[in-house]
Amino acid sequence: MKVTVIGSGVMGHGIAELAAIAGNEVWMNDISTEILQQAMERIKWSLSKLRESGSLKEGVEQVLARIHPETDQAQALKGSDFVIEAVKEDLELKRTIFRNAEAHASPSAVLATNTSSLPISEIASVLKSPQRVVGMHFFNPPVLMPLVEIVRGKDTSDEVVKTTAEMAKSMNKETIVVKDVPGFFVNRVLLRIMEAGCYLVEKGIASIQEVDSSAIEELGFPMGVFLLADYTGLDIGYSVWKAVTARGFKAFPCSSTEKLVSQGKLGVKSGSGYYQYPSPGKFVRPTLPSTSKKLGRYLISPAVNEVSYLLREGIVGKDDAEKGCVLGLGLPKGILSYADEIGIDVVVNTLEEMRQTSGMDHYSPDPLLLSMVKEGKLGRKSGQGFHTYAHEEAKYSTIVVRVEPPLAWIVLNRPTRYNAINGDMIREINQALDSLEEREDVRVIAITGQGRVFSAGADVTEFGSLTPVKAMIASRKFHEVFMKIQFLTKPVIAVINGLALGGGMELALSADFRVASKTAEMGQPEINLGLIPGGGGTQRLSRLSGRKGLELVLTGRRVKAEEAYRLGIVEFLAEPEELESEVRKLANAIAEKSPLAVASAKLAYKLGEETHIWTGTSLEASLFGLLFSTKDFEEGVRAFLEKRKPNFRGE
Ligand SMILES: NC(=O)c1ccc[n+]([C@@H]2O[C@H](COP(=O)([O-])OP(=O)(O)OC[C@H]3O[C@@H](n4cnc5c(N)ncnc54)[C@H](O)[C@@H]3O)[C@@H](O)[C@H]2O)c1
Repeated sequence: MKVTVIGSGVMGHGIAELAAIAGNEVWMNDISTEILQQAMERIKWSLSKLRESGSLKEGVEQVLARIHPETDQAQALKGSDFVIEAVKEDLELKRTIFRNAEAHASPSAVLATNTSSLPISEIASVLKSPQRVVGMHFFNPPVLMPLVEIVRGKDTSDEVVKTTAEMAKSMNKETIVVKDVPGFFVNRVLLRIMEAGCYLVEKGIASIQEVDSSAIEELGFPMGVFLLADYTGLDIGYSVWKAVTARGFKAFPCSSTEKLVSQGKLGVKSGSGYYQYPSPGKFVRPTLPSTSKKLGRYLISPAVNEVSYLLREGIVGKDDAEKGCVLGLGLPKGILSYADEIGIDVVVNTLEEMRQTSGMDHYSPDPLLLSMVKEGKLGRKSGQGFHTYAHEEAKYSTIVVRVEPPLAWIVLNRPTRYNAINGDMIREINQALDSLEEREDVRVIAITGQGRVFSAGADVTEFGSLTPVKAMIASRKFHEVFMKIQFLTKPVIAVINGLALGGGMELALSADFRVASKTAEMGQPEINLGLIPGGGGTQRLSRLSGRKGLELVLTGRRVKAEEAYRLGIVEFLAEPEELESEVRKLANAIAEKSPLAVASAKLAYKLGEETHIWTGTSLEASLFGLLFSTKDFEEGVRAFLEKRKPNFRGE
């Protein structure tokens, strides 16, 4: 196939290289021999890098021989089967080139443009055959970025979209198809995330570093929002922003970017932008202090609103939207998955808050989001959001067990009795733990309370019938179950959603982690009844908080979650509406590891806490040796060498 690439700059030379690797004869056109010569040098360098890494099957010279630099545009286009234009972002220039292409290329040739922001339909409108014009939006650098966004103009034919997708596939690219709206899909989402970062900084809610830390730590983004802007070039982002806002895209204005661009501070390439770099073009990741600010919902919600609008208008499909975020923006998951994790109701409330504080109407929640909230489609927590989540529920008389692999929830379910733990509940927790421990699809267990309380403690109404011996036996039953939790082969998270007193607090203390809502309170009030904690409180509290816990046992004083956190009783604090998503984040981070390694690590750690270091390290050494015999270890090493995520099966 004869492929013509017009423009051999940053994007064009990479596209020409890809087309040649795919086996096509490529005519590369630019305005001077020098520019073309430079492009050929860059291609040669890139091909040799690919060859070195083993990803190029042929020799460098063989591929280069298929690329023909040509300053005569008519010649480069003559009889071409596929034209890709990558000259600068200038509508009239692009129109002239496409008129030329229409005159010289094969009458059936696809005429593709790599524009980032100009409407395909506006470029095509001056042609006799606008149905042949399509957006083929590569990302920088084209050779390495896995996605191509195919943009369907108002006249683009199905056949042309199909041929373009095939061409992208032959270049080893994944594709998404989007209708012709300003910024298409990927840049629109990126701009929403960026504007949310600016909103947070300009409204004084957070600093640039805090926004970036939160994006990395809370959302798992590969780079902070502002750092990414520096990395890609502030002028590039700013020009896309200007182009799309000029076409009606409403966004919170980022005055900081505008200022930096006007001062020539363009990010990494100029040596400074939002951050400072050692010299122009030299990228060194700035060290960011960790932040306790939870900004994730602000950073995500405007993008969710945007994607909801695009879905509702039929501009992009759901699967392509998710794929675009992962492959085009490098996010660990799609925006809609983030929305489901955070909760659609939380997204709606966040948007309302942003609308009120900024006075900008484009933050009004999209009708799609409002109807989802109305229908109870709140995301993961309700089993249905943008995606459907498999919920399997088993009802016992005092608890509910909800399995949403890889996480399973044990919910204490006596809300009218403040989830007080009675004999039945202790037996049922025991049974539930046994059955969940055997399930391979369950990697982490969370225990929480129904309603607004975790558990107010052991059910005092049962105390009346207890003789001293029976009380001792009852205490032993609590101990049996709590020890089972402590040494279970799967990690257990206590999700303290509200009050956790007495036996409720002791249940939480037996878990591996405690994630508490900021509104939660904890305490061991047994002393007020002339008793002492009977479910391990005197033992586990001291192990977590050292001597400090004794005061709580002796006075029965309740502590709020933040004090519990300072005392070391609670490991993670969360806003009430973010509690579940915090737990899922922790659970998912553990669940993607080998369950054999996780179980071994937990056992060595937990036994180590209770034993002499000689015994503990001997156990560690044995387990370390044992793990060398697992398939998971083989997979871990293979994935590391192949630079991919491992897929552990627990074998
Ligand atoms: N740089 C990016 O990150 C990026 C990413 C995606 C898409 N894009 C889009 O790709 C296109 C090209 O961007 P770029 O960054 O490669 O620009 P660039 O300035 O690096 O390259 C443009 C090239 O086109 C050549 N040119 C100009 N007029 C010409 C003509 N009449 N005939 C032939 N060649 C001509 C120039 O000499 C130059 O070599 C733009 O539409 C841009 O929006 C850029």
